Amino acid sequence: MTHPNGVLRTLQVALGERSYPIHIGTGLLSRSESIVPYLAGQQVMIVTNETIAPLYLEALTQCLPETLDVRSVVLPDGEQYKSVEQVGRIWDALLEAGFNRRCTLIALGGGVIGDMVGFAAASYQRGVAFIQIPTTLLSQVDSSVGGKTGVNHPLGKNMIGAFWQPKAVVVAIDSLDTLPDRELSAGLAEVIKYGFIRDAAFLSWLEANMTALRQRDPETLAEAIARSCQIKADIVAEDETEQGVRALLNLGHTFGHAIEAHQGYGNWLHGEAVGAGMAMAATLSRELGAIDDAALDRALAVIESAGLPLAAPAEMTREHFLTHMRRDKKNIDSRLRLVLLNALGDACISDATPPERLAALLDAYPRA
Ligand SMILES: NC(=O)c1ccc[n+]([C@@H]2O[C@H](COP(=O)([O-])OP(=O)(O)OC[C@H]3O[C@@H](n4cnc5c(N)ncnc54)[C@H](O)[C@@H]3O)[C@@H](O)[C@H]2O)c1
Ligand SMILES: [Zn+2]
Repeated sequence: MTHPNGVLRTLQVALGERSYPIHIGTGLLSRSESIVPYLAGQQVMIVTNETIAPLYLEALTQCLPETLDVRSVVLPDGEQYKSVEQVGRIWDALLEAGFNRRCTLIALGGGVIGDMVGFAAASYQRGVAFIQIPTTLLSQVDSSVGGKTGVNHPLGKNMIGAFWQPKAVVVAIDSLDTLPDRELSAGLAEVIKYGFIRDAAFLSWLEANMTALRQRDPETLAEAIARSCQIKADIVAEDETEQGVRALLNLGHTFGHAIEAHQGYGNWLHGEAVGAGMAMAATLSRELGAIDDAALDRALAVIESAGLPLAAPAEMTREHFLTHMRRDKKNIDSRLRLVLLNALGDACISDATPPERLAALLDAYPRA
């Protein structure tokens, strides 16, 4: 197959006037055709981090036309730097360069860079254009789509931010070649999640293609990323500001956030916690009679085949889970809201789980 411009798939996030394309392909960081049409003017600020800059910054800078005024900012790497201080460094660079309202920010990196650059773009001169070039599987299938931007505050994760949509998302699949295996598996957790909540056929496809995905076969990755982005884009188009169906995207996340919070951010990757969290949600769905044993076995097997943990951390008690789960910002009033499975490919949001059934699950669930 020949692919003009290296683009293997293009899809559209339908948000009226703020609609934008997601281009997925190989070699996109050395070709400007999928980037230049989305620049607002001549001024371009590429923002990346110290890990990604030596790998991809030069290729990206080189491929942009020489007539543009291209600058870059390299931030430190890590979730602990997803802060308003680091966004301040982006604002500083924009002002020092004299960039105006027709400048464009480019986020080159994972979700941490994407969230910060989106927030910098939302706030610089009351809003400028930005393009996402996500370089982790998680950011390619999740954080770069949907327009949630922001930073952490010492008192809470993602507490400061804005909804701000990019002009385009450019997924360069070959950037995944340098991604550590653990980070790839973490991204696969979100891919599997889309199958669980919305698409039984996609889940079957994932079961058949997991080996090729973990071997980073470009065509297989392009398909998985495109189908994942399509499901997220459809859900976001239905519910941009999370009043309803968008909450399904939290499958496994209430349990997962409890694991992340208890273990300390960084010890378990987000996707690893979501993997175990989805296994817990599937097990609870089985206990409540919503799915049968065969469905539960398939759910656990696909999570495990992605290289993700099923067991919860050894030292976490029922009370540890409940304490963190009660703090989840998705709860309304005091009732715990959980995303549960009706079937593989069909999920629902429920606040009707009897507390004693949840307690029994948390007591009996396997620990590592
Ligand atoms: N906005 C949203 O809707 C949304 C959704 C999900 C997650 N998020 C946010 O995304 C963040 C997590 O994103 P992430 O998992 O991409 O983490 P990340 O951005 O921290 O990237 C993970 C690690 O991989 C490195 N890396 C990135 N690309 C690489 C590459 N191609 N080769 C080698 N190393 C590479 C990074 O430098 C980092 O060390 C969190 O802050 C989370 O809150 C946002
Ligand atoms: Zn997630």
